[in-house]
Amino acid sequence: MAKKKALPKLGFLYLDHVLRFFDNSNFKGWPNKIEKVVYHWGNDKKRFIKEVKRKKIDVLIGNIPATAYETFREISRELPEVRFVPSLDAQFANKSKENVTHFCEKHDLPIPKTDIFYEKDEAIAFLEKTTFPKIIKKSYGPSNYGGYFVHKVDDITEAKALLAQKKYYPVYVQEFVPMQADIRVMVVGHRPMCAFWRRPPEGEWLTNTSQGGTMDYQNVPQEALDIAVKASVAANAEYWACDIALGEDGKFRILECATAFAAFPYIRDWIGQYLMSLFSEGKIKNPYIPAFNWEELGKIRSSVLRTMRHITFGEYTPSYDCADSLESMNREMYPLLPVELRLGEEWPSEIWNRQDNYVPRALQSRVVDLHLEHEDVGLEDVESETGSIEIEPQRELSLSQEQLFSFFAGVKGVGPKMRSAILDTLGVKGTSEALMKDPSKLLAVKNVKQKKYEAIMSHWDEFRVTL
Ligand SMILES: Nc1ncnc2c1ncn2[C@@H]1O[C@H](COP(=O)(O)OP(=O)(O)O)[C@@H](O)[C@H]1O
Ligand SMILES: [Mg+2]
Repeated sequence: MAKKKALPKLGFLYLDHVLRFFDNSNFKGWPNKIEKVVYHWGNDKKRFIKEVKRKKIDVLIGNIPATAYETFREISRELPEVRFVPSLDAQFANKSKENVTHFCEKHDLPIPKTDIFYEKDEAIAFLEKTTFPKIIKKSYGPSNYGGYFVHKVDDITEAKALLAQKKYYPVYVQEFVPMQADIRVMVVGHRPMCAFWRRPPEGEWLTNTSQGGTMDYQNVPQEALDIAVKASVAANAEYWACDIALGEDGKFRILECATAFAAFPYIRDWIGQYLMSLFSEGKIKNPYIPAFNWEELGKIRSSVLRTMRHITFGEYTPSYDCADSLESMNREMYPLLPVELRLGEEWPSEIWNRQDNYVPRALQSRVVDLHLEHEDVGLEDVESETGSIEIEPQRELSLSQEQLFSFFAGVKGVGPKMRSAILDTLGVKGTSEALMKDPSKLLAVKNVKQKKYEAIMSHWDEFRVTL
């Protein structure tokens, strides 16, 4: 009998102060121990590489925050035997909106017309002769936060004032797309597993749910699913999310895409199961994820849905001839596919890390290191600022005391006493700012140690999607 192929050794890739997308609970049924390797912010490359080697890890699983992306491209080159999941190329779009644009342009995916400038005077020259309104966004930051760094400008005066105030680098300018709503599609193994509409509040244009928008799961158009699947295939991503705008002109355009996104635990369980099947070459079964399951699961109250784990479905076996032909058609339309290993790099940093490679004209003789490391997590998540880019928040983002109470009520291990300690130390405004923008501030509260901190942030990850 042929010798059984051993399972690869898995490890979770974690970073200090960054939300953990996966833990052991998402990999229920994996027979071996899963290692953990934590990257400490700062100069930790060598130690991290050593630890991965010492633990003999074959597969490192986890999202890399934008601000550590380039460091991890270097790390992955020094660990050629280790498979990063998702690959660094698949995570290219996580780093910045600029990268999303390059990715979509290369793979012929629809996006709003976008212009990117590394010289401010070139941006101004462009804006002097363009049409308005335009959208100006921060391309790269420690992170994105739900429309916080997205601005609509109606004329050149507004555009200039904004650029003078924000000092965004590069300057990322997009046509303003009047839209009905946008759609988030989550994909695993190139198969849609969840999709919902995000609609702006009455009379507003921002659709982020954190800005008062609403969401619903019914009748997401096929075309949006197709675009998300096409993008996932192009990125060769094990898991993937796309935000797609549906314009008033009826056209679909990708606004954001990434392997990092906020998701309920049952979604992460499905991804874990898909990955286990991939790594065990099918010995562990793939999850069966019925098409359009979200239309039904979405009817469950989100406070309940966010506690549901390991949702499983059996495949329907028809008991007579006239089987449900629609269901079998859908299944073939989006088969759950393995992700193929690709050799070489699609997006080498020497070419694509423009932020660090570009030497501004004014500094042609001096080379600056703009390589910023910080904590963040991708598609609309926790935000924290670096000193180099000055931002004056435009919209106030704040949770009420009542919202904070209901949030903390859901955090395991945080009782009324600790809740009061947090609110007394940071205040209502300070607490919501800490959750949204600078979670490390929570560690300043007496008795909030790493474990509590993680419990708080992991609950926040789920809670915030429902705001
Ligand atoms: N080009 C655009 N035209 C119209 N609205 C836009 C455009 N780009 C973004 N928006 C609106 O702003 C929101 C936030 O923009 P997005 O690019 O997703 O940044 P963020 O990282 O802040 O979520 C979108 O969900 C959408 O409602
Ligand atoms: Mg967004």
